[in-house]
Amino acid sequence: MATDLLLKGKTGIIFGALNEKSIAWQIAEKAYEQGARFSLSNAPVALRFGEINELAEKCNSKVIPADATSMEDLQKVFADSMEFLGGKVDFVLHSIGMSLNVRKGNVYNESNYNYFQKALDVSALSFHKLLQTAYKMDAINEWGSVVALSYVAAQRTLYGYNDMADAKALLESIARSFGYIYGREKKVRVNTISQSPTPTTAGSGVKGFGSLLDFTERMSPLGNATAEDCADYCVTLFSDLTRKVTMQNLFHDGGFSSMGMSLKAMTQYDKSFENGK
Ligand SMILES: NC(=O)c1ccc[n+]([C@@H]2O[C@H](COP(=O)([O-])OP(=O)(O)OC[C@H]3O[C@@H](n4cnc5c(N)ncnc54)[C@H](O)[C@@H]3O)[C@@H](O)[C@H]2O)c1
Repeated sequence: MATDLLLKGKTGIIFGALNEKSIAWQIAEKAYEQGARFSLSNAPVALRFGEINELAEKCNSKVIPADATSMEDLQKVFADSMEFLGGKVDFVLHSIGMSLNVRKGNVYNESNYNYFQKALDVSALSFHKLLQTAYKMDAINEWGSVVALSYVAAQRTLYGYNDMADAKALLESIARSFGYIYGREKKVRVNTISQSPTPTTAGSGVKGFGSLLDFTERMSPLGNATAEDCADYCVTLFSDLTRKVTMQNLFHDGGFSSMGMSLKAMTQYDKSFENGK
């Protein structure tokens, strides 16, 4: 029996595809495969260094530059997208994150506060700004879906994740607070996906990222979720199959967030004490 494409007839806006490794890039490709039409947006600087035009060509999409911390830029993205797509959209992806403290290797207890504020603005407040812009412009159809990308550092401390942990905690809280209003008033759902460590440009900037990736791979019963896996999951959240899911932080991490000690880790731990060491 032939089944319809999951996103047939749906339109959206995808923020944050920089290159092929980007989670947003993989989501764009999957959404396109599943029948969606969408615009793409990223910061002007990313448009210069990234490869987003290639993706736009592949997906018959349009690139609309925007610094996601600027309300003016965001209004333009929604206005231009609605014009390009012929009306309100059904889904929006926020896949944006940046911390200068992480990039420069500053330890958390010696955070630079200008960088800290910038990290919160780019990685979390931009989500509020995006939601507020969409809400005021009434840019999302009823039963539409907004998804942002988060990380388990919002709940648990992981070495090296720094002020991004605070940004993710704020991001997840915004999803709940705005999700309540958007759901109540316009039947729009708002969720975050808490994704496994993923070797992307932003991810690889975290100190000790290689070891973290290896640790979570071994600790998760299903192994790390890749960017492509994340794209599959995200497509279901954009689809009509998840219409009553909102205000949730959804772990997509092979089980990592529920693990304490694994057999592999126990074996490794015992080995490290062999010979009385
Ligand atoms: N890679 C991981 O390990 C991992 C794990 C969990 C969650 N995430 C989250 O996934 C999201 C996407 O990151 P990624 O791993 O695909 O890396 P990425 O580097 O490919 O994407 C980050 C994007 O943020 C954009 N960006 C930065 N500042 C911006 C601004 N001012 N305005 C607009 N866009 C801006 C960048 O241009 C880039 O496209 C981020 O929120 C990240 O925190 C990543």
